Amino acid sequence: MTKGVKPGFCLCYLQPIHAGRVFMSDRTYYVTTPIYYPSDKLHIGHAYTTVAADCIARYRRMRGDDVFFLTGSDEHGQKIERKARENGIDPQSYVDPIVRSFQELWKRLLITNDDFIRTTEPRHEKAVQVLFQKLYDKGDIYKSFYEGKYCTPCEAFWPERQLVDGNCPDCGRPVEHVKEESYFFRLSKYQDRLLDYIEENPDFIQPASRRHEMVNFIKSGLDDLSVSRTTFQWGVPVPFAPGHVVYVWFDALVNYLTALGWQEGDQRFEHYWPHTVHLMAKDIVRFHAVIWPAILMAAEIPLPRTVFGHGWLLLEGGKMSKSKGNVVDPLVLLDRYGVDAVRYYLLRELPYGGDSYYSEDDLVDKINADLANDLGNLISRTLGMVQKYQDCVVPEAGVPHGPDSDLINCARQVKDELEQQLDRLDFSNALAAIWKLVRRANRYVDETAPWNLVKDAGKKERLQTVLYNLSETVRMLSVWCSPFMPVFPGRVFEQFGIAGRLDLQSWESTAQWGLLPAGLQVEAGPGVFPRIQPEDEQEPPRPTKPQITIDDFARVDLRVALVKSVEKVKGADRLLKLELDLGSETRTVVAGIAEHYVPDALVGKRVIVVANLAPVKLRGIVSSGMILAASDGDRLGVLTVEREIPPGALIK
Ligand code: MSP
Repeated sequence: MTKGVKPGFCLCYLQPIHAGRVFMSDRTYYVTTPIYYPSDKLHIGHAYTTVAADCIARYRRMRGDDVFFLTGSDEHGQKIERKARENGIDPQSYVDPIVRSFQELWKRLLITNDDFIRTTEPRHEKAVQVLFQKLYDKGDIYKSFYEGKYCTPCEAFWPERQLVDGNCPDCGRPVEHVKEESYFFRLSKYQDRLLDYIEENPDFIQPASRRHEMVNFIKSGLDDLSVSRTTFQWGVPVPFAPGHVVYVWFDALVNYLTALGWQEGDQRFEHYWPHTVHLMAKDIVRFHAVIWPAILMAAEIPLPRTVFGHGWLLLEGGKMSKSKGNVVDPLVLLDRYGVDAVRYYLLRELPYGGDSYYSEDDLVDKINADLANDLGNLISRTLGMVQKYQDCVVPEAGVPHGPDSDLINCARQVKDELEQQLDRLDFSNALAAIWKLVRRANRYVDETAPWNLVKDAGKKERLQTVLYNLSETVRMLSVWCSPFMPVFPGRVFEQFGIAGRLDLQSWESTAQWGLLPAGLQVEAGPGVFPRIQPEDEQEPPRPTKPQITIDDFARVDLRVALVKSVEKVKGADRLLKLELDLGSETRTVVAGIAEHYVPDALVGKRVIVVANLAPVKLRGIVSSGMILAASDGDRLGVLTVEREIPPGALIK
């Protein structure tokens, strides 16, 4: 997968510069996630980084910026080699299906990466060798002997003095003693240049807390780094030293260059580097903010614009990890709650730079409170009132009055705040900003009480203004939510009949209040965020009814019926009267579905009718039959036939 480069569109700078200032004006973005180890399937913690990166990539594209978004897999190293051996297969066969599972997960999460890099690809291995050789030729890589500690799960070398109780200071697990010939990178040589760089570019490492940690780490003294291993084989061979493979972190970091075609004369490298935002959790900031920039300095390649280290999603008992057995499978959550809800939860939950505890109860609470109650209700109330009070047509706004200007000002302020928060990668507060308008708009509904305005013919224009303002608010909210939740906004645009109007879905279109055209025909549809019943409130499973024979079933005459017309039954809020074509005859059926369907939505559908049900009289109308529907208490859906089977056909 490659992405076209528009020649001449480069607004880039040749040198890395003060990121905080550049962030706002530079229009080129290279967004990266860490490349994950295919030692096991990914959990919800990994999903966080990729969803965050996707959100920023989508947002930047919506702003008209030029974005290249990369993720991938980090396939070499001792950990993978061991895992494969434990499973009795070669490392490549071990990682291949796991890497496929990464790619499938990203598809399910609607991740819009432009490329997926695997460190076992020839394009990558070549780039690693070129860089290694370059640093060796320059004298920045030299041969020596390593004796010290190594944490295999973290693939990290540790000097004795940095161990905590003899264990890895990062993950707390036991380290191994390693004693072997090794090539070293002169990391110590770059200590002062790194400190100067970080001081001159205070936004290089974000948030500030991470920068302080890194500065202290560097000041405590940098040892030269062992960058080759001889005691296992699963890695990129050192080009000039048979028996040595490149240290997996050196190998992995180079992926960011490989994917842009560095060394292959690819324009993308010139174009996107160094306009880079490297996203990751705090555990690997040290590799990206110390080792990586030092390697780049040695190779005389400009440094990335931003290294951003977010916090961890924790479980009771600490960080999620397969070895602790406390992981949460994102696929299970996606099946249960859908992609928008999972993405919303992740992006809202983790505070800027900080940690948070995951719990499914919390996830359900957030879906119910923020999505179903606040946002979902606002959308369905707005669309429902336009249908009910305006015959499904978005009305024209009249003169602003009462709380109108406050609502409109709130929308303006929210847009500014949202952009500021997204510029600093504060996803949680960006969503909090959007919700200020969601709450303001719900209050506006209560303040203006359209259900009272509709009763007073003199308040017609006022009612129209209120419903217009709510519709415009829902449009803007849908635009702003789309980098976070890519599915529901599309449904809202469809219901407003503006699915093809990209001009009304663009970020720019929210800079001006009132672009939603009056006169649009609104369509009925199911609510965008149904409430989740917490498990303890769920209805107990109903036992099935006593068994029947096929002959018993055959006594029920089920037929396909084409809905010709539908109207409300006067004086009965819940009833609709349907005229049905059964092929050889026409029937009238009264159904209790008016709360779930506007009449027009059913016309032309092929429903299923119980044709030999004894007629009953409902509100003076004889109902000859019953149409079938499924319901879970809150929601209801009429059963329809998928193909154009002629009316009157038997259901068997
Ligand atoms: N392969 C290296 C990265 C090389 S990048 C050049 C690696 N892989 S990893 O599979 O262990 O992924 C670590 C990253 O996954 C973290 O930095 C973070 O982005 C993400 N997360 C893993 N667990 C997480 C949480 N529990 N919470 C938040 N992020 C999590 O390190």
